Amino acid sequence: MSDISFSDWMRQQQQRAESALERSLPAAGLQPGRLHEAMRYTTLGGGKRVRPLLAYAAGALTGAPSERLDAAACALECIHVYSLVHDDMPCMDDDALRRGKPTVHVQYDEATALLVGDALQTLAFDLLSAPGLFADPARQLRAVHTLARASGSRGMAGGQAIDLASVGLALTREELEVMHLHKTGALIRAAVLLGALAGEIDEPSLQALDHYARAIGLLFQVVDDILDTTADTATLGKTAGKDAAHDKPTYVSILGLSESRLLASELAAQAEASLQELGERAQRLRELAHYIVSRQF
Ligand code: IPE
Ligand code: IPE
Ligand code: MG
Ligand code: MG
Ligand code: MG
Repeated sequence: MSDISFSDWMRQQQQRAESALERSLPAAGLQPGRLHEAMRYTTLGGGKRVRPLLAYAAGALTGAPSERLDAAACALECIHVYSLVHDDMPCMDDDALRRGKPTVHVQYDEATALLVGDALQTLAFDLLSAPGLFADPARQLRAVHTLARASGSRGMAGGQAIDLASVGLALTREELEVMHLHKTGALIRAAVLLGALAGEIDEPSLQALDHYARAIGLLFQVVDDILDTTADTATLGKTAGKDAAHDKPTYVSILGLSESRLLASELAAQAEASLQELGERAQRLRELAHYIVSRQF
């Protein structure tokens, strides 16, 4: 592993993801210009890039080639950004602010926001299925399948459906876990798996990574729920306090703040424990678990 600090590594990899996205998105001048401009507006220059960071860290561990990892990172971020654009629309969470800027339906219009989401979703699969990207087509198909499963009705989109159907309901802790594992956990898990699948890895190590990924996927949304109640809008770059305002069941509404924090540290510890047998080469993934639990936005 390189000896640069975690924060330097993170900045470097965020920049790497930014450049890869910049290259992968259609130019704003390309017709239809308004759609391409809106895709670039919402995807470039913002966000923590957690899913690309996870893919890069897992990929480094398995010796994945750089071009393949960049494609996986971009595909993951495209699905994620599409989910945010739709999540913010009036028919869902009705939010006007994302990553410190007006949301797509506010800056452009609702139809554009819908199409930006559609186009980012298909761009993700366009990038990941590019002919020749993987040496082994069966491995590439497994990566594409992993991303498709994580994004659809048995993954993120299904979790969003549960979220919308749960407004005003007092979910049990088990039901809440199912919702969070789907709406956020599935794509985070896919990020780790796609990074790993881009290189060489044996099945037991992949299982260990999968364990880690499940824990941080849930952790990520537990922390998102906490920050919605504890952080301010300027820090978050999105409207704070909206879960309670929209009567959404969250870890904070069901367990309270201090128990949610306790759960978050337990999940981070669980994630780190899953990496034990992978040794020193999993150090960046350990640091990412620590980052996710202690992040301020
Ligand atoms: C926000 O995701 C939505 C959730 C899935 C919790 P992020 O917190 O990763 O948002 P960005 O990409 O940094 O803006
Ligand atoms: C969003 O959950 C999950 C997805 C976009 C899939 P939230 O609705 O809590 O995300 P934020 O808080 O708006 O970023
Ligand atoms: Mg939502
Ligand atoms: Mg939302
Ligand atoms: Mg939230």
